[in-house]
Amino acid sequence: MVINGQNFHAIWVDNNKKDIVRVIDQQKLPFEFAIKNLVTFNDAFSAIKDMTVRGAPLIGVTAAYGLYLAMLSTTCKGAELQLFITAKCNEMEQARPTAVNLSYAITRIKSVLEGIDNVERAREIVLREADLIKQQEIDYCEAIGIAGLTLIEEISRKKKRKPVNILTHCNAGWLACVDWGTALAPIYKAHKKGIAVHVWVDETRPRNQGSKLTAFELMHEGVPHTVIPDNTGGHLMQHGMVDLVLVGSDRTTRTGDVCNKIGTYLKALAAFDNRIPFYVALPSSSIDFEIENGFTNIPIEQRNANEVSHIEGKEGKVQLVPNGCKVANYGFDVTPARLVTGLITEKGICPATKEGISALFSI
Ligand code: MRU
Repeated sequence: MVINGQNFHAIWVDNNKKDIVRVIDQQKLPFEFAIKNLVTFNDAFSAIKDMTVRGAPLIGVTAAYGLYLAMLSTTCKGAELQLFITAKCNEMEQARPTAVNLSYAITRIKSVLEGIDNVERAREIVLREADLIKQQEIDYCEAIGIAGLTLIEEISRKKKRKPVNILTHCNAGWLACVDWGTALAPIYKAHKKGIAVHVWVDETRPRNQGSKLTAFELMHEGVPHTVIPDNTGGHLMQHGMVDLVLVGSDRTTRTGDVCNKIGTYLKALAAFDNRIPFYVALPSSSIDFEIENGFTNIPIEQRNANEVSHIEGKEGKVQLVPNGCKVANYGFDVTPARLVTGLITEKGICPATKEGISALFSI
């Protein structure tokens, strides 16, 4: 996507110095557009953990490049190299718990390195695989955009070309996914095609990925949008001001339960009550094919209380609650499949059911 006339991905390997991985520092957005260099495994691990990078697909891609950086740092060979690879993969798994893309990418890296005992070869292989995972996420997101565009086109036709009002939660745009995005990809496709869209952007407390990142993306792409407090969506839906809810996912079960940023479930409930279509856009790398029950099997990240007790803005950080007040900070919630109208994937749209997912992905 384009920032000030220049095309960017959320992560890339420096063209001239192949030992530097560059990322857009999402902690500084929207007030500063800064690029951060990752040169060690620990840099990549910390970037995921402290949310310099965030969003399920980007977490996976960053982990893959982090393992490449780990390979650059070692001279191990033979069985020792295999032990090193296993240790680094296990360590990387601990960076964040909820997005399944992390273990998806690590599993791919682990499997291409199986049996490799020469470190130079391991470096080449892991870099190639990380590049492939990155390109796959870009291609999948663009395909999601094309599939989801059909939904927006249909609503636009029914509304006789009046703007299609889409509500989204958190940031599931190109910053979260390398390029295009998941939930935002159909919106970008529609906007580029000249279809009138307007996006209601949930601010997404406590980290404000909506007001900081989604709004930043939409502004740069020229997509009309309005930032709203998280508790506004229900009211808008009751008054016919939302035509479609589009969100991303950090982990979706093989039965269609959707884990996404905290607050997504409440939007799904409101959409259900108001008969508004609620779609989840996700690449297959965000589907956990191993699990059926989203409530019992998905680890929900609990984050620092500080993110709730304080808020960070352009002028710095300010405290919001009385000293010593107890707060809770769950990062994600699970929307049961029955509240999801459909899943938009790189292979097309399917019902959020075991059968729907199986039919698309032949499992
Ligand atoms: O905690 P984050 O910012 O990494 O969480 C990301 C989300 O939950 C997003 O809503 C997104 O849809 C999933 S990644 C495309």
